[in-house]
Amino acid sequence: MRASRYFILGSVPIASALVLKNNVGRLPALGWNSWNAFACNIEESKFLTAAQKFIDLGLKDVGYEYVNIDDCWQVKDRRDSNGRLIPDPKKFPDGISGTAKKIHDMGLKIGIYSSAGTLTCALYQASLGKEAIDAQTWAEWGIDYLKYDNCQFPSNWNDKCDFCVWDDDRTSGLRNGTCTTSKNLCAAGYDYGASNTAKRFSAMRDALLAQSRPILYSLCEWGLAGVQQWGNATGSSWRATGDISAKWTRVLSILNQNSFYLNNVDFWGHSDADMLEVGNNLNVAEGRSHFALWAAMKSPLLIGTDLAKIKTDDLKTLKNTNLLAFNQDPVYGKPAMPYKWGTNPNWTFNSSFPAEFWSGAYSNGSTLVLMFNPYTATKTKTAVWGEIPQLKGGSRYQVTDVWTGQSLGCVQDKLDMQVGAHDTAGLWISGPCTGKSFSG
Ligand SMILES: *[C@@H]1O[C@H](CO)[C@@H](O)[C@H](O)[C@H]1NC(C)=O
Ligand SMILES: *[C@@H]1O[C@H](CO)[C@@H](O)[C@H](O)[C@H]1NC(C)=O
Ligand SMILES: *[C@@H]1O[C@H](CO)[C@@H](O)[C@H](O)[C@H]1NC(C)=O
Ligand SMILES: *[C@@H]1O[C@H](CO)[C@@H](O)[C@H](O)[C@H]1NC(C)=O
Repeated sequence: MRASRYFILGSVPIASALVLKNNVGRLPALGWNSWNAFACNIEESKFLTAAQKFIDLGLKDVGYEYVNIDDCWQVKDRRDSNGRLIPDPKKFPDGISGTAKKIHDMGLKIGIYSSAGTLTCALYQASLGKEAIDAQTWAEWGIDYLKYDNCQFPSNWNDKCDFCVWDDDRTSGLRNGTCTTSKNLCAAGYDYGASNTAKRFSAMRDALLAQSRPILYSLCEWGLAGVQQWGNATGSSWRATGDISAKWTRVLSILNQNSFYLNNVDFWGHSDADMLEVGNNLNVAEGRSHFALWAAMKSPLLIGTDLAKIKTDDLKTLKNTNLLAFNQDPVYGKPAMPYKWGTNPNWTFNSSFPAEFWSGAYSNGSTLVLMFNPYTATKTKTAVWGEIPQLKGGSRYQVTDVWTGQSLGCVQDKLDMQVGAHDTAGLWISGPCTGKSFSG
């Protein structure tokens, strides 16, 4: 570790975080990743296309910067004679360093992928025990971001006990409140920072910190091993859950789970609700809800669709500057939180009906309010000022629609919105009204 370039504040896991130079990782990452669009079917041109689309579609202008390579970028079954990972010469004829140069020349950053195991999830070479040489290789290639997965570690690295993960989106008939990891739960008070999982992921942190290049470290530990306790000290973001898929039910399940994990989110440490499926098999309303809630939770926002084919409406969603401004607030690091569940009582764990009413503070004094409709029909949702913690009891507020940017005027006490099936209404409440006229 080079103290002049990197430092870790403090030594107690929960309160300290990975702090990198140039503010790398202070805010949630904005970018694109190949997996949800292409899985293993990748080659350099797909990354150059994504990068060019960032520029042509105005995504770079609103802050998207990382172009991230996921699994399957290497020669599968061997390293070179120096023990280094080998980029697949058919997929990356100029090596990853060649691709990195092209991406950098476009004013963007590039990410790579490996696993805290002996092989990756698609069974390519991975980095457990080889952290130092791999981190050094990536730094030499010009890599800016690492997604580090959790596949294929030998059984001697198994954790001694399990963290209870609640996830009712499994086919195995698990119900509300059941641990999916129920074999051998850790005792109350267990220090998950001492788990083997934490050790596998910390080893790569240390190897990355030994490089002179800041490399954003994105943990993909699937929400296991009590990562809430050690994620902030280990990476810039940690995955809250298992993988997302392009299914509305899965998006809802992850939203439900992550809504219980938001206390640990602040500058330098973000609970990652996984890469976006906007544009992939979700309708426009579902894409809007997915994006708005991920932005509000201050999750990293990594686009996961083929940008050469994206529809205008989905692009508009991904470029919503109000939601991006909230996600990237430079002054206030906390995410929005649910203030009312809606259908179910507050704090009900339920993947079909997760929290519907959300609010968060923005540094310019505004409050973001989201009202999500989980039903398959249009519903009237009412934002009641007296229920929203940030509004502190005032009765008349100036309101703007997050999606259209249109002023809804000065509104007294509450506002009814018609919200379409699976859609989310968004309000910016910019402060008490100053003039005399009001509606509502
Ligand atoms: C994570 O660490 C950073 C930097 O030390 C700190 O500002 C932030 O509050 C921490 N987050 C939590 C939830 O403790
Ligand atoms: C605060 O920022 C948001 C997002 O950019 C904007 O919509 C709103 O008008 C701003 N409010 C004030 C009072 O500046
Ligand atoms: C849920 O939150 C709403 C809004 O603050 C509040 O009015 C209601 O009393 C809460 N319900 C419970 C059970 O805490
Ligand atoms: C989720 O909530 C809905 C609405 O209250 C309820 O009908 C359903 O039974 C709940 N699901 C579970 C698994 O508890």
